[in-house]
Amino acid sequence: MAWTVAARRNEITEGKPKITVVNGKEIGVFHEGGAYYAVLNYCPHFGAPVCLGKVMGRIIASGPDSLDYDNDHKTLRCPWHHWEFDLATGAALAPIRQRLKTYPVAVEGDNILVDI
Ligand code: FES
Repeated sequence: MAWTVAARRNEITEGKPKITVVNGKEIGVFHEGGAYYAVLNYCPHFGAPVCLGKVMGRIIASGPDSLDYDNDHKTLRCPWHHWEFDLATGAALAPIRQRLKTYPVAVEGDNILVDI
């Protein structure tokens, strides 16, 4: 484990992650819904630069005949084949085994650190 500065807070806005190389790994650092996330920029399906995908909420079944939009749990959609992953955990939202590699993030002053 090595905490490394990956970005400065003013480099990232919601909807526009910073893609950078930290310790030889290309990662995307996101600021969404007030939280920061770091994700390896490599889709486990066929290797797309997944951090270029769209971040959104998700539709959930709130009852037998009703759907709701959950904007609290952020989803990253791969730009190639639209697989969707939980931005915080990397878990796929479809019944597939692959998951995104995610990294712990910390904020110290204006710096965003990633534990790689
Ligand atoms: S490469 Fe990401 S869904 Fe296929």
